[in-house]
Amino acid sequence: MKKLFIKTYGCQMNFYDSDHMSNLLKDSGYTVSEEVKEADLVILNTCHIRDKAAEKVYSDLGRIKKVYENNHLRKPIIAVTGCVAQAEGKEITKRSPWVDLVVGPQAYTDLPKLIEKIKHKPDHKEINLQFPEVPKFDLLNFESKKSKVSDFITIQEGCDKFCSFCVVPFTRGAEYSRSVQEIVNEAESLCQKGCKEIILLGQNVNAYHGINKNNKQINLAGLIKELVKIKKLERITYTTSHPRDMNDDLIDLHEDSEKLNPYLHLPVQSGSDDILKNMNRKYTSKQYLEIIDKLRKKVPNIALSSDFIVGFPGETEKDFQDTLNLVKEVKFAQSYSFKYSRRIGTKANRINCMLTEEEKNERLQVLQMVLNKQKHDYNKTFLGKRIEVFIKGKGKKDNQYKGTTKWMQSTIFESKKHLETNKVNLKIKSAMDNCLLGDLI
Ligand code: SAH
Ligand code: SF4
Ligand code: F3S
Repeated sequence: MKKLFIKTYGCQMNFYDSDHMSNLLKDSGYTVSEEVKEADLVILNTCHIRDKAAEKVYSDLGRIKKVYENNHLRKPIIAVTGCVAQAEGKEITKRSPWVDLVVGPQAYTDLPKLIEKIKHKPDHKEINLQFPEVPKFDLLNFESKKSKVSDFITIQEGCDKFCSFCVVPFTRGAEYSRSVQEIVNEAESLCQKGCKEIILLGQNVNAYHGINKNNKQINLAGLIKELVKIKKLERITYTTSHPRDMNDDLIDLHEDSEKLNPYLHLPVQSGSDDILKNMNRKYTSKQYLEIIDKLRKKVPNIALSSDFIVGFPGETEKDFQDTLNLVKEVKFAQSYSFKYSRRIGTKANRINCMLTEEEKNERLQVLQMVLNKQKHDYNKTFLGKRIEVFIKGKGKKDNQYKGTTKWMQSTIFESKKHLETNKVNLKIKSAMDNCLLGDLI
């Protein structure tokens, strides 16, 4: 068997794609290895969302080159896939001429063919950045893919919203929803193999509008109602949602469906209406707060999560205070916050009035202090409670395991005995910003 080393950057949709790439390449004789040194094929499945993420790819490419050169190994085939591939194309092979393949996120089912093409031609490069007529999902092999207790299904991909800071509409293409039947089949196949929790993925997952057997368009709530019927499936979550698409069907389902996790990742980005307008988010802070209010009336302890950008061009101290005020009003259970990063080709890149790095750092620090305290406060409400946890793998220390609750908190516990199951009950004894500690019951 030949060895494949694959590294994934960025969002969960990239992780889903990486799983499927490895699965596709099994048929071409590749097994996954954790070691670059022994790889015959290296794939970097990349993210272009912020400058840092994209630049990391180039430094990793340099490091990989050193590994085979310094150890006098045969050069592996090197492929760059994902969003940097889509955004930068040929530029990658110019900057890093040891890269052999550049393949976009919608074209990776072509990888086995492209590898065959270049195998015996050391200087030949292949670049495929197509958005093919036949969606990649039609060409993936779901039956042969392994399953985990908690697994992903991409149900929607691409974005038509064009937020002024964001590269995703350019790297992933137009919004596309898979059919209800395709998704149900994939979910059934995973659950047959032991999966108990499915995380439905999409850049705008709640904009989902796939067709059912009768050719009728179904929204995300409708799709979840179909998935709930799968007996072995115990938990369902969906991410990432956009406030504009947070309809009442979905909000009601949080109260009505036992299987839907009490968790929602609903990025607000900013609490300032001027900034939201310049971001082209098409909602106001008041509208966002109304959604939160409705949700909390249905599920009072729902874990709310958000993304934030600080230092968007033109963000004043007052705009930033508006963000802090919104945060203080909502009280988030989880959050991700970033400094604005300029992206070529996006509208915001043309707005002058950039903030300095120092100003952005300062604001990020202030925001993160408040957000971290909120995470901690939320987690503390679980102290002493008995909680079911799905086991995701081994922890860092001996006898340590990690898992997640249905509120999507990371949870750590110990067991001296080898665990046969993938689900345990814990009594929570300690709460941190980013995780819970528990004892086996
Ligand atoms: N579709 C999701 C977000 C996908 S990108 C949504 O609409 O909310 C993930 C997160 O990266 C975004 O929520 C945003 O907070 C951040 N992000 C995107 N572009 C960025 C940029 N240019 N600079 C800094 N952060 C950015
Ligand atoms: Fe990017 Fe906006 Fe689309 Fe989210 S909704 S992927 S932030 S353009
Ligand atoms: Fe990054 Fe592309 Fe996902 S830019 S966040 S890998 S859609």
